[in-house]
Amino acid sequence: MDKKLATTIGEVHDYWNTHTLGLQYVTDKDVKPGTPEFFAHIRPWMNPYKFPWIMVRIEREAKLLKGKHLLEIGCGMGYDSLEFLKRGVRVTATDLTPNAVTLTQRHFEVERVQAEAIRIANALDLPFPDSTFDAVWANGVLHATGDTSRAIREAGRVLKPGGRAIISHFYRKPSWMYLLHYLGRENIEYEEEDPPVNEFYTEEQILGFFQGFEIVEAVREHHRLLPVRRSGLKANLYTYALKPIYNLLPDSIAKKLAYKLSVTAIKI
Ligand SMILES: C[S@@+](CC[C@H](N)C(=O)[O-])C[C@H]1O[C@@H](n2cnc3c(N)ncnc32)[C@H](O)[C@@H]1O
Repeated sequence: MDKKLATTIGEVHDYWNTHTLGLQYVTDKDVKPGTPEFFAHIRPWMNPYKFPWIMVRIEREAKLLKGKHLLEIGCGMGYDSLEFLKRGVRVTATDLTPNAVTLTQRHFEVERVQAEAIRIANALDLPFPDSTFDAVWANGVLHATGDTSRAIREAGRVLKPGGRAIISHFYRKPSWMYLLHYLGRENIEYEEEDPPVNEFYTEEQILGFFQGFEIVEAVREHHRLLPVRRSGLKANLYTYALKPIYNLLPDSIAKKLAYKLSVTAIKI
């Protein structure tokens, strides 16, 4: 691994180890991370509950994977893995950061579910032999690793032939989010700072990463502007000017500017 990528991974690790997805949604300071109240408190804001199409994808895949072994890469607090476990899928949940792994362990204890393993793993250098898993799930992770193409090759390596890679979601360009990012790096999801890496790709680039796979589905998501959590001039321009005007666009145009692409593919 070259030095530049190793430095990037260090930055990515340090950022996510203190910004485990979900911590930013705590609105009550008395709610302590790792408690049953904590997981219930942030739950409505977490991916599979906040964005219903993620739950639809989990339900669809869980039917195909019952009793089979799924690897989650970048599990955060483990909400997606939890839903697979509840549906009878065997799960190994992994994340780059120790805090995510600790919170996922705690979360599964609270929910009384049993994973095959919960451990630290780097998507760019997975600590598993070739052809280990029936499926790989990564949600909002691979474009934030510093080398998306390598992450997909690693996912392919650990999948059995015929195994499913279900990757939600890559950041697209052109898209409304890319425009914001390009014009002013206005982070809208985090109040303090953005992650060190969030790469945007054209759809052609994204699909081109899946060498050795057959694409089953590639769907555009988030074609409407999201609410902003920040304050200040740029945030106000976004909320009171850009958002209402943009959201008047018909679906046919807005979908061309969707900012995420989710891909399901089968290893050949
Ligand atoms: C946006 S969060 C998504 C978390 C979770 N998938 C969810 O949807 O709630 C990105 C996650 O990817 C993890 N991550 C970033 N780079 C990684 C890498 N190289 N290997 C494994 N996990 C990584 C971060 O630690 C973080 O937990």
